[in-house]
Formats: sequence, C-alpha cells, structure tokens
Amino acid sequence: MNKSESEQAVVLVSGASSGIGEAICRLLIEQDYRVIALARNQPRLQQLADELGADCFPLVVDVTDARAVANLRQELPESFRDIGVLVNNAGHDTGGRRNFDEGSAEQWCDIIETNVQGTIRLTHALIDGMLSRGSGHIVNLGSIAGLKPYATGTAYVSSKFAIHGFSETLRLDYAGRGIRVSEILPGLVRSGFAQQRLGDERQAQDFYDSFEQCLQAEDVADTVLYALQQPRHVEIAQLVVIPVF
Ligand SMILES: NC(=O)c1ccc[n+]([C@@H]2O[C@H](COP(=O)([O-])OP(=O)(O)OC[C@H]3O[C@@H](n4cnc5c(N)ncnc54)[C@H](OP(=O)(O)O)[C@@H]3O)[C@@H](O)[C@H]2O)c1
Repeated sequence: MNKSESEQAVVLVSGASSGIGEAICRLLIEQDYRVIALARNQPRLQQLADELGADCFPLVVDVTDARAVANLRQELPESFRDIGVLVNNAGHDTGGRRNFDEGSAEQWCDIIETNVQGTIRLTHALIDGMLSRGSGHIVNLGSIAGLKPYATGTAYVSSKFAIHGFSETLRLDYAGRGIRVSEILPGLVRSGFAQQRLGDERQAQDFYDSFEQCLQAEDVADTVLYALQQPRHVEIAQLVVIPVF
C-alpha cells in the first residue's frame, strides 16, 4: 500500500453492491483503506458493511439522483467525509445487446444517465475537496467497449466511449494539481452485469458459459489497487485487462 496516499484516503466506490464494485470494497478493506460502499440496494450494502466492519460505510444513493449525489457528504460520518479516492464503477446495460430500434429510447437513455451522467455527478461532487487538499485519485471503470464498438451495443458502447473521453480530458484539466485520473478498461467479467441486462439468472449464466474464459470481479479489483498503489509521480492513465484461455 502507498501509505502517503492511503493513510488519509477514504475511498468512495460506486456500484458496491455487486460484482466488480463489491470486489473492490473487499480488497481495499483488506488493504486497510476506509471505504464508502455506494449503491441503491440497501440490504446488500448493509450485509457487505456488516461483513467488512467499521471501516466500510454503506451509503444508499442512486447516481441518477442529482440532488442525492450533490449532498452525499452530508450523509457521511465526519471520519468518512474527506474522500481522497473516487472509484466510478456504477453502471449497467439493462435492455442491451439488441439492435437500436428494438430497445426503447428510455432504456438507452437510462444507460447513459447512469454510466455517464452518474460518473460526472459523483466526480463533480467530490472534486472540490480533492482540489482543496491538493491530492486525489479518480478511477473510472471504462470497458474495452469504449475502445472498439460492437453491434447491438449502441447506448452501452456510447457510454464507455464517453467515459474514455471524460477520463482523458479530466486528466488534462488537473495535470500538475495533485489529482490523478485512471481508467480501467476490462473485457468480459463474470458479475451481476449480464443478469441485470437480461433480467434472468439462468440466461446470464448461459451467456457467461458461452465464452471460453471470463475475468473474475477480483481480477479487476486487483487492477484498481495497482493504480492506487503507485508512487505519487506515477499515474496509471489506462489499464486494459482481458481474459485469456
Ligand atoms: N461485467 C463486465 O463484463 C464488464 C466489462 C467491462 C466493464 N464493466 C463495467 O464495470 C462496472 C461494474 O459492473 P459489474 O460487471 O460489476 O456489474 P454488476 O455486478 O451488475 O454491478 C453493477 C453495480 O452498479 C450499481 N448501480 C447500477 N445502477 C446504479 C445507480 N443508478 N446508482 C448507484 N449504483 C448503481 C449496482 O448496484 P444497485 O443495483 O444496488 O444500485 C451494482 O452494484 C460497470 O461500469 C460496467 O460497465 C463491466
């Protein structure tokens, strides 16, 4: 662990109730970080916090709710308010893997609303604190879908291209001001993602089983920790991680 950053760092992880976000919370707690686990599913967050102990604070917030995100620090105990690291991980592809005309405009827009606007909102809510302390680290969960489009992914692919552009530009905005911006771009990860997309657990398992190999959520969590552990003069700009078989 890079003590200089983590000693003061409280890490906010969005999308902490499942998959990659949950794995990030577990790993960071193991590494002695203090973690705010943010998502909508209160029972799952509470279960996680009960398991991980007092260094994990569960925070029920919907990232599409502008007011809740803007005011989130007020919901935190004093000891969790100085957030030094933000992991923008909340995201979904509900209704995805269909041609554009086959999904509703509302579904497509909700993907953008969560994956892109949610990330922008959370970052905006926390950036002032980082700037005033002159240090911070923002880790955005992109995807290889943000590098190379695939058919049936219009909204999701657009959302991850946006995360790519946002991450690249944010890094330029704050160069030299103590704020690092890392983008993690995974390939296929076995998580709650396919079930969320398809609305059916069996179909989700069949989807993952149709690939020779998937990443595990823990593999992606390891890459986030790697980005956080670098010395202050090193910034992991992009980290692409894919399964091999
Ligand atoms: N799985 C993959 O193959 C893959 C590949 C590349 C990138 N990614 C990216 O990795 C990230 C995590 O996905 P995952 O695979 O771990 O999927 P997951 O298991 O479905 O987890 C998604 C998380 O996002 C949260 N979330 C969704 N909408 C939210 C909202 N409006 N407000 C707050 N939290 C919200 C969910 O919690 P609640 O429902 O409790 O709110 C859940 O904790 C996403 O950004 C995804 O695009 C995934």
